[in-house]
Amino acid sequence: MRRATGHAPGRINLIGEHTDYNDGLVMPVALRLGVTVQADPRDDRIAHLTTDAAVSPRETSYELGAEQKDGTWVDRAKGVTATLGQKGIHVGGFDAGITSDLPLGAGLGSSAAFAIALLRALSELFDLALDDAATVRIAHAAETDFAGARAGLLDQLASVYGRRREALLIDMRDQAMRTIPLPPTVELAVIDSGTRHEHATGGYNRRREECEDACRHLGVTSLRELDERPLDKILERLPPPLDRRVRHVVTENARVREVVAALGAKDDAKLGELLSASHRSLRDDYEVSTAELDRLVDLAAAAGALGARLVGGGFGGSIIALSQRGGANDVAARILQDYGGGHLVAVVP
Ligand code: GLA
Repeated sequence: MRRATGHAPGRINLIGEHTDYNDGLVMPVALRLGVTVQADPRDDRIAHLTTDAAVSPRETSYELGAEQKDGTWVDRAKGVTATLGQKGIHVGGFDAGITSDLPLGAGLGSSAAFAIALLRALSELFDLALDDAATVRIAHAAETDFAGARAGLLDQLASVYGRRREALLIDMRDQAMRTIPLPPTVELAVIDSGTRHEHATGGYNRRREECEDACRHLGVTSLRELDERPLDKILERLPPPLDRRVRHVVTENARVREVVAALGAKDDAKLGELLSASHRSLRDDYEVSTAELDRLVDLAAAAGALGARLVGGGFGGSIIALSQRGGANDVAARILQDYGGGHLVAVVP
């Protein structure tokens, strides 16, 4: 058996944050940066992993079929092999070398990219013939059922189906997808705040529970059902903070639709305003921002960005700042001069 390689990209999300697990709308764009896994077969039942990333552990082994969660990044690999095992898909032992030019835990979909890159390497190494849909499903199960982060499907779908120059509008109700080109007049600076928060998974899972609570209060199965109803009347029926959480989700879906319209109308200023409105909603209503992310977003406005917002789950991580095409590097330099400690991850597209 020869060495096999799997690669998967990270993502940004133009807009539509914390809507995916509420059957809502999202608009990811794939990054050039991603995770690569090189896998060689072993003749035992051991998965042996090494990584070039500044994480702990840098090297580890575990036995296939005896995966135990340990709260580290390795849980994503264990989740992948345990899920394959549960599905009766046989893989043998392997040595995997992991390299990543995507910052980890920065809200850019690195967990999903790792799981998908590993699945692609294993699929090739052991002739599993996993198709895209199975890859998405197994990577998602590794994250949720095994690792215990109750994430939606945004990151996995974005990594597998996302494009670099187009946003992928996904309706999570039925996973219908439509590509929408990014305007040639704008670009996005992706800036990592350099901060990661310990309670990110707990905070994320709590938001999901709050959305489920709100559904129970309102007698709906998903917050998406509220799209067509008068928002004020709905919010009156909810105790805080559920009213704020629901307001974010419902208005965020509306903003996704407005972004689609703004892209169609080539209205870059409107696009920027919508990104900033999304940030305010994530900050004030959904309460997943941090002082660092708020500061980056404020600095982006001062640096002349058309709009900016946190990207991904929040609780640390990155922002995206929209500027005129050719202007992202300057905007990022001005932001970072005053911020200190962050870095420019990419300019999109
Ligand atoms: C994380 C999750 C996604 C999505 C975003 C927020 O990236 O993995 O499923 O919920 O947060 O939009």
